[in-house]
Amino acid sequence: MLVIKKETYDEMSVEGAKIVAALIRKKPNAVIGFATGSTPLGLYKELIRLHKEEGLDFSKITTFNLDEYVGLRPEHPESYHYFMWNNLFKHVNADPRHIHIPMGMADDIDRFCEWYEEQIEEYGGIDLQILGIGANGHIAFNEPGSSLGSRTRIKTLTEETRKDNARFFNNNMDEVPKYAITMGIGTIMDAWELLLLASGSGKADAIKMTVEGPITAMVPATIVQMHQIATIIVDREAGAKLTGIYTG
Ligand code: F6R
Repeated sequence: MLVIKKETYDEMSVEGAKIVAALIRKKPNAVIGFATGSTPLGLYKELIRLHKEEGLDFSKITTFNLDEYVGLRPEHPESYHYFMWNNLFKHVNADPRHIHIPMGMADDIDRFCEWYEEQIEEYGGIDLQILGIGANGHIAFNEPGSSLGSRTRIKTLTEETRKDNARFFNNNMDEVPKYAITMGIGTIMDAWELLLLASGSGKADAIKMTVEGPITAMVPATIVQMHQIATIIVDREAGAKLTGIYTG
């Protein structure tokens, strides 16, 4: 596991984007797993810049997103479809036919989850999975206690996560989805390479446990220690509690 400590959020984002861009240049038809949330926004901004100013070509990549709320239409402003489209895909030349985001409106969610796993396999697996991390160490919607071998499935959101997210739904708990489709921890671990980003003091404890703590399902991100090619990039605040010596 390579841990890179950067000073600022912007430096963290540019460093992360370098890894993604290097993969796309080396393997134009790479399969890339994307995350939503505030953390990767800077990385996506830098990828857009690389596309516009340096011609980074997304036309042959295939994408798989980590998760999506159940019950939100793709055009709902809080859906992860909407997020990905607005924050990355519409600004680059990714081929919509090769973009995969879990379908929160699927009629048969269990069957959809099986299909999602099959699709990942059919494309030869994910080359690089981008991850954020929750303050409690969650990855995707795999909250503490999730099976470390889990696959794509429907999960009930914890009350804590729903309350945290209420601000995006007019502070009305009735509007906050109760379920999400998420890649499992096993699905994430199958990716050839992982890139986890963390920014801000709210993530410092989670990063300390993830990098220097014991592996436990109670902090799902700790499983990243078992991955063969994982890079964790943190800014100064997120890395503040690390005591080991890491690359700058
Ligand atoms: C998003 C996702 C989540 C976030 C995590 C951190 O697709 O899977 O696990 O990565 O909740 O969110 P932010 O980046 O908003 O702090």
